Amino acid sequence: MMSTATSKYKVLFTPILINQLKLENRLVMSPTHDGLADEEGFVTSEAINFYLKRAMGGLSMIVIGAVDVNPRRSPHAMLSDDRFIPGWKELVGRIHSESGAKVCTQLIHARKMARNWIQDTDDLPSEEINKIIAYFEAGAVRSQEAGFDAIEIHAAHGYTLSSFLSLRNKREDEYGGSIDGRMKIIAEIYQKTRAAVGTSYPVGIRINGDEFIVGGNSLQQTRIIARKLAEMGFDYISVSAGGKYEDSPAFHPKFGSPWPYPSSGGYSGYRAMPPAHMPEAVNVYLAADLRKTVRQAGYSTPIITAGRIPHPRIAETIISGEQADLIGLSRPLLRDPNWVIKAKEGREKEITRCTYCNECMDRLIQDEPGLCVYLNE
Ligand SMILES: Cc1cc2nc3c(=O)[nH]c(=O)nc-3n(C[C@H](O)[C@H](O)[C@H](O)COP(=O)(O)O)c2cc1C
Repeated sequence: MMSTATSKYKVLFTPILINQLKLENRLVMSPTHDGLADEEGFVTSEAINFYLKRAMGGLSMIVIGAVDVNPRRSPHAMLSDDRFIPGWKELVGRIHSESGAKVCTQLIHARKMARNWIQDTDDLPSEEINKIIAYFEAGAVRSQEAGFDAIEIHAAHGYTLSSFLSLRNKREDEYGGSIDGRMKIIAEIYQKTRAAVGTSYPVGIRINGDEFIVGGNSLQQTRIIARKLAEMGFDYISVSAGGKYEDSPAFHPKFGSPWPYPSSGGYSGYRAMPPAHMPEAVNVYLAADLRKTVRQAGYSTPIITAGRIPHPRIAETIISGEQADLIGLSRPLLRDPNWVIKAKEGREKEITRCTYCNECMDRLIQDEPGLCVYLNE
């Protein structure tokens, strides 16, 4: 039954600008690899329905998770070739015409996973680096052509760009060593991409606030990284955590060891998708710290936080406490596509709560769509 009550969450439902893109509220869908692309990586009608349902649920923006810029055999949806553009055009067009949500694509470069799943950059030949930069540039141009309102560069978790950023990057050429060296590939991707898409097109980035692995980045490094990303001109910084595989103990029959995912992974994996036993809002302090760092350096770059934020009351506290500018939600939206509209209309008691069981992740591991096991769709 529709209620006429208005939201008590006033700050959550105020607009914000990302570059010149106006978002109507502070709640965005955090990038969520959905497993709904077909075998070649094309957008399917299932993917369109999945995102449309969530867009109609009141989000201000959906960030489509992990879209590959480089051609490879992958479970992800692809933007590595022009032939993928029409599918995305249809998805973005439907969301624009049937909801008020904006759509962003998270561009990812992933290498063929090594047997141990660790995406070490140390063995990557220098010639390959120019190729990676060109893949991101082309992916950004295709995103713009497909009608996406924004792009996000994936430099978090266990993939190529985060491996460059990491303190564990032991390259001896100019793409390793100091923080400037470890950030060089991202600086070059940013310059090329910005030149290609123009100054007013929103270009965000996702990083780890802390890698939660021995010898990896902690806030000590990521404060400098965040300040430099703001200085470069990124239009938002999305702060995630962990998702590295180095501490993952489990074995997988098909892929060997260590198996990376949080359900059977190490502590770093758990921090990326904090399960039920972790505290609520466990990673927010990282976003708050980096936001403060960036503000003190004189930049107003919006900061997104995510991770086990189950209730609009907590989201409101984070925004009103100036710990972040936007809240990213992933698993709560898998469980309840109408989370946002229920909060807005004062019907938060009707939100079906995610149990943070991470079965969605387990489904992905089994090569099934990463949908909620408790929701039939
Ligand atoms: C099934 C699933 C797939 C995910 N895929 C991605 C992804 O493609 N890119 C990414 O940056 N994060 C990904 N994440 C992490 C989420 O964006 C988010 O940061 C994390 O789940 C914590 O937020 P939550 O507690 O709201 O789920 C994924 C999470 C889940 C559960």
